[in-house]
Amino acid sequence: MYTNTLTYLREHGVQSPDIGLILGSGLGDMVEEMTNAIKIKYEDIPDFPTSTVEGHEGRLVYGELAGKKVIALQGRFHYYEGYDLETVTYPIRIFNQLGVKTLILTNAAGGVNEEFKPGDLMVITDHLNLTGENPLIGSNKPEGPRFVDMSQTYSHQGQTLLYQAASELGYHLQKGVYTWFTGPSYETPAEIRAVRTLGGDAVGMSTVPEAIVGRHCEMEIIGISCITNYAAGMQEHLNHEEVVTISQIVKPKFKALLNKLIEKIGNEANLG
Ligand code: HPA
Repeated sequence: MYTNTLTYLREHGVQSPDIGLILGSGLGDMVEEMTNAIKIKYEDIPDFPTSTVEGHEGRLVYGELAGKKVIALQGRFHYYEGYDLETVTYPIRIFNQLGVKTLILTNAAGGVNEEFKPGDLMVITDHLNLTGENPLIGSNKPEGPRFVDMSQTYSHQGQTLLYQAASELGYHLQKGVYTWFTGPSYETPAEIRAVRTLGGDAVGMSTVPEAIVGRHCEMEIIGISCITNYAAGMQEHLNHEEVVTISQIVKPKFKALLNKLIEKIGNEANLG
């Protein structure tokens, strides 16, 4: 079922990546740091979805980053664009077929935790799925079990590597629980109060479907949010321009952190 995509990617030079990287809002140009990069437009890849969001370039990029073979999505697929969740997570299944063992998920998110401020980077320790949706609904795919254990969705070892990377760079990282809403409307202040009561620290419109499918494929997941704004009700208005502006400001820091993290992955015996 993945054959057309895999055949095309392999014919175009994509070989056994170790790490999959999903680049959220504003981080797309991280791929410019990759060496020996092969860049393929989504529209050229058979059976691959195409991205519709402004500010997201739709390319799959394979190359080396910090000495590792990395496959990156420059622009992810969101549920709010109208894709079903199987389509949203199709690239994760392709990454798995290509041999990816570690999946790094990045995103822009609203800060719910009152200690957070725009510009902070947050290590995702866990998530809350408040959508009632799940990308594994439907007949079970052979990559994993019907009932997937989500007890350790975000790798402890991966979180440790992130803290080590940040400390070497002199960065402070926040940590917390990412809460998935479908969007595309932002949350209401009441929803944000509910999230806080439920233990959520940040809110966003992505990442959770990919993390669930990543776990179905037994990948190690590392998640990082760039807090781009105070969540609804904590500042006067929310708008996409602010999200883009703050992501741009944080980008150099985010890129340095990802580089350091990738440098460290796989250097220890077992990430897990
Ligand atoms: N809510 C949902 N998604 C987001 C936000 C937010 O406040 N900021 C960036 N992405």
